[in-house]
Amino acid sequence: MTDSGDLLVVLENVNKHFGDLHVLKDINLAVARGEVVVVIGPSGGGKSTLCRTINRLETIDGGTISLDGRPLPAEGKALAGLRADVGMVFQSFNLFAHKTILQNVTLGPVKVRKIAKADAEREALELLERVGIAAQAQKYPAQLSGGQQQRAAIARALAMKPKLMLFDEPTSALDPEMVSEVLEVMTSLARDGMTMIVVTHEMGFARSAAQRVVFMADGQIVEENTPTEFFTGARTERARDFLSKILTH
Ligand SMILES: Nc1ncnc2c1ncn2[C@@H]1O[C@H](COP(=O)(O)OP(=O)(O)OP(=O)(O)O)[C@@H](O)[C@H]1O
Ligand SMILES: [Mg+2]
Repeated sequence: MTDSGDLLVVLENVNKHFGDLHVLKDINLAVARGEVVVVIGPSGGGKSTLCRTINRLETIDGGTISLDGRPLPAEGKALAGLRADVGMVFQSFNLFAHKTILQNVTLGPVKVRKIAKADAEREALELLERVGIAAQAQKYPAQLSGGQQQRAAIARALAMKPKLMLFDEPTSALDPEMVSEVLEVMTSLARDGMTMIVVTHEMGFARSAAQRVVFMADGQIVEENTPTEFFTGARTERARDFLSKILTH
């Protein structure tokens, strides 16, 4: 695989163990700039671990991961720089409970990007507007609905002007009526050209926003295809079996 300028993220032969457990097995994945990749698959298949290795929340035992043509730094200042380039949104919103929504969004830009507070606040309000919660800026996370908190978490990640956004089941902790408001924000982000890796079982999102679906099971990429091809004609028994289970829910 050549690391051309169009590729933002490249994983080559990535392996990861937790003790005896081989959780990532020779993962090869290249994500182009502006591409949206949905990762789906059964529980325990390694989807979260994959995301966590990409922003170095987990180390890898073998292979290489590069971002924007550069290998991931192991530690130190370069690693902090990389983390700032990769926004991550988790199932649990992970907002700072004792800070307002506005403070949550401005913290990274001020501390890490060294942006002046007034500028950071202006940009934060624009982002909160974009995700539809500008009216909540002065509230604390506990005063917001789950959907609003997740949109705040997305705004916080975007405030760092990341090159890549990782989403790990961003809607799975939400009440059903709040799922669509978060997916709408993600869809508009995709339309605006953000490079995204999204772990989700929301097939509507995959179909409308993703260029590619990656099916992961038992630590391996079993199959990848366009959403339409994948959902209507999965090639492997493993993927068809998985789809029959999520489709009957
Ligand atoms: N910190 C850890 N220490 C030991 N084992 C771990 C750790 N994190 C994950 N695992 C194991 O690694 C495997 C992959 O886990 P991972 O969380 O990546 O799966 P997943 O595909 O995200 O699953 P889910 O759909 O349930 O979120 C699982 O067997 C899990 O138990
Ligand atoms: Mg997971």
